[in-house]
Amino acid sequence: MTDTVSRRSSLRLLGAAIAVATAASGGLTPPSRAHAQGKPGAGAAPRVEALIAKLTLDEKISLLHGATDPATLGQAGYVPGVKRLGIPPLRLADGPAGVRVTQHATALPAPVLLASAFDPALARRYGQVIGREGRALGQDVLLSPMVNLIRTPYAGRNFETFSEDPLLSSDLVAAEIEGIQGEGLIATVKHFAMNNQEKDRTTVDVRVDEQTMHETELRPFEAAVQAGTGAVMGAYNKVNGTYACENKALLTDILRTRWGFDGWVMTDWRAAHSTAKALTAGLDMEMPGDVYFGKALKKAAQNRTVPELHIDQAVRRILTVMDRFGLLDGRAPTRPGRNAKAGAAVALEVAKAGATLLHNERGTLPLTAGDIAVIGPTGELPFVSGGGSAHVVPDRADSPLDAIRVRAGRAAKVTYALGEDLYGRPLPASALSPGFKSEGQGVGAGKTWTYDGELTVSDTDEWTFVIHYSGAADLRPKVLVDGKELFPVKPGYGEWFSGGLIYTAPDQLSVRRTTLRLTKGKHTLKITARGGDTGQLFRLRHTTGAIRTQNVAEAVRAARAARHVVLFAYEDATEGQDRTTIALPGHQDELIDAVTAANPRTTVVLNTSSATSMPWLTRTGAVLQMYYPGQEGAAATAAVLFGDCDPGGRLTQTFPVDDDHHPVARDAARYPGVGGREEYTEGIHLGYRWYEAEGVPPLFPFGHGLSYTSFSYEDLSVRPAGHGLDVTFTVRNTGRRAGVAVPQVYVGKSPDLQLDQAVRVLGAYRRLSLLRGEQRRVTVHVAARTLSSWDPNRHAWALGTGLRVVWVGASARDLRLRGLGEVRG
Ligand code: BGC
Repeated sequence: MTDTVSRRSSLRLLGAAIAVATAASGGLTPPSRAHAQGKPGAGAAPRVEALIAKLTLDEKISLLHGATDPATLGQAGYVPGVKRLGIPPLRLADGPAGVRVTQHATALPAPVLLASAFDPALARRYGQVIGREGRALGQDVLLSPMVNLIRTPYAGRNFETFSEDPLLSSDLVAAEIEGIQGEGLIATVKHFAMNNQEKDRTTVDVRVDEQTMHETELRPFEAAVQAGTGAVMGAYNKVNGTYACENKALLTDILRTRWGFDGWVMTDWRAAHSTAKALTAGLDMEMPGDVYFGKALKKAAQNRTVPELHIDQAVRRILTVMDRFGLLDGRAPTRPGRNAKAGAAVALEVAKAGATLLHNERGTLPLTAGDIAVIGPTGELPFVSGGGSAHVVPDRADSPLDAIRVRAGRAAKVTYALGEDLYGRPLPASALSPGFKSEGQGVGAGKTWTYDGELTVSDTDEWTFVIHYSGAADLRPKVLVDGKELFPVKPGYGEWFSGGLIYTAPDQLSVRRTTLRLTKGKHTLKITARGGDTGQLFRLRHTTGAIRTQNVAEAVRAARAARHVVLFAYEDATEGQDRTTIALPGHQDELIDAVTAANPRTTVVLNTSSATSMPWLTRTGAVLQMYYPGQEGAAATAAVLFGDCDPGGRLTQTFPVDDDHHPVARDAARYPGVGGREEYTEGIHLGYRWYEAEGVPPLFPFGHGLSYTSFSYEDLSVRPAGHGLDVTFTVRNTGRRAGVAVPQVYVGKSPDLQLDQAVRVLGAYRRLSLLRGEQRRVTVHVAARTLSSWDPNRHAWALGTGLRVVWVGASARDLRLRGLGEVRG
């Protein structure tokens, strides 16, 4: 929390020293790999120039786009390299919560859970795990971290990124990149920029003013550059009329000229739109194929629409980073083996550190003696990670139910009730005429299987049909009930939804659902299933309103019979789609209503991606936000529930009360856009800044999170320190047990600036573990950058001098101390 920018640059210059120091402090980085994140070694430029001089035009172009990997590791991207000159291939793997290849890897908690710990040192260790695993799993480049700020609660990737606050996201991205690159893996900060939603992500034109862009979304990208990120991934969307991947203002004027980025820019997958325009705007690499940077680029070079100098420049940027990581001259250390144990330990630690206790009344948590009813599908099946490119094949994952049983020991009975059915029940054989193997119908390779029969429905009801199938999306069995196709294949990104819990059955078959009302009597059922190249297996299942009523009744019975209830609620997010409401999906709100009415000592554990509305909040005993907790989520959740550790997380995004009270509510131009354009008219008032500016009370504010103990904040002193402020205060553990405090410093407006300013912004924070009765005097630095506004008239930062109010608190709205500090120019 010293001046972020200068701290980053000095760390970067220290290069080797950082990694050595990290190793000494128990990190995963052995000193021998220390050179990897450093600056180019002596002779780097001549080596790169010598290679460029020897490369043919075809060879140069082959370095500027993706190709098919002859190996089958399953990563997202591949660049073949040039063997004759000793340029090795590059393998590029997702992603933000662990290394995404076909093999198993450590499935870390979602980045939003990491961020909730408010702990850059932990982010560095998270990065180290991915860095080492990436290299161990044959990768060279990691397509992570994602730093797009959380602007709308609906955005499908809010779990993959950190926060709505530029300072917190900047600190975390810098630390994580240092962790990744210290292990010798090249990091790729993404998605540059203004990729704050999934709805229409490939087409939407984000209209945003200069001040907003610099004060919000761009800050963590700049921090990533300062931390030495090797690569940047351009976004799908347009920014102020031009696609991000061919946007000169972003890729050259800001990224390179203003920030001094010396690595390479690649597209997001299939996000290139042009050849000459993109290359001259500053794009270096098209991924994952060669639509624009393959033959088209060669032609443009030959007919001189693109000077070869531009091609050389792109090649130079890629090779310079490769050289910096020792990939061109054999300096790169040999690939390490995986250290799955160390990865799992970090996964567990992060999940515990980020666990955010939102609500805890009547001493509901930690759990004490007494029988426990566990309810909800994700109470039994571990909800490890979100869908899309952030999904990792986990080494392992336990059931939360088992973890709770183990922790409760013999003294307490732990029962389980499903509550809400995700995967459906088998169709009753008596309902099908003729019968077929609806619980496992196989179709041979190259074969087509058809069914033409009848389904008899005993009572008019709402039916949810659920199909589980093993083939690719285009092989999804075609099922028609009364002539209506139940699971049509959606074109394009409509089929991205995979990997998450809802779209994948426990045995890994893909799952789709459709609900319709069926009247009592007979209905036609027609199915066509193709075996494709390898054959496939499918199941057709169902739930009905009547089954749902039975499930809820069973949950209520279990809740009544137990002393405590732990109800796991889910929401499954993925890239490629946004949510349409912040309410929990399905009938979970009704389930929670019924269960809390039966037993108010109910804790709701949320395995959700982002903010959720909680109409039932006051009827619950406790609410624990675990997001997608990774492969060790079950043990971490049990540890927090039983109080083996303090819930150390704080919200990194504001939770609105409902769909009508948040920054992008009721304004389609603001979100999701009108006629392809989206206006960021909330300006700099992103996240909590908007709630303060508009006087809208949130459900839970930014920075909120309860501990099992209590803290007092005392003795504030604020002193000028350079162009920033040093803020000193005392935090005392006033409760009866050890716990984690996350004091936050917020700073008010400058009287000297004529620019729009937020009511208050996060200036610094500190995560503290305090024993019972312990107190700590803390000094944090509020950096000049955080005290500055972007002046669009001068196209530069303007320091917000003068007397500024400084608050210290436990959230953006729980402000305990107030003082004044003078910012000096
Ligand atoms: C995502 C990227 C990801 C890429 C490769 C894209 O759809 O937006 O974040 O890195 O796919 O998997």
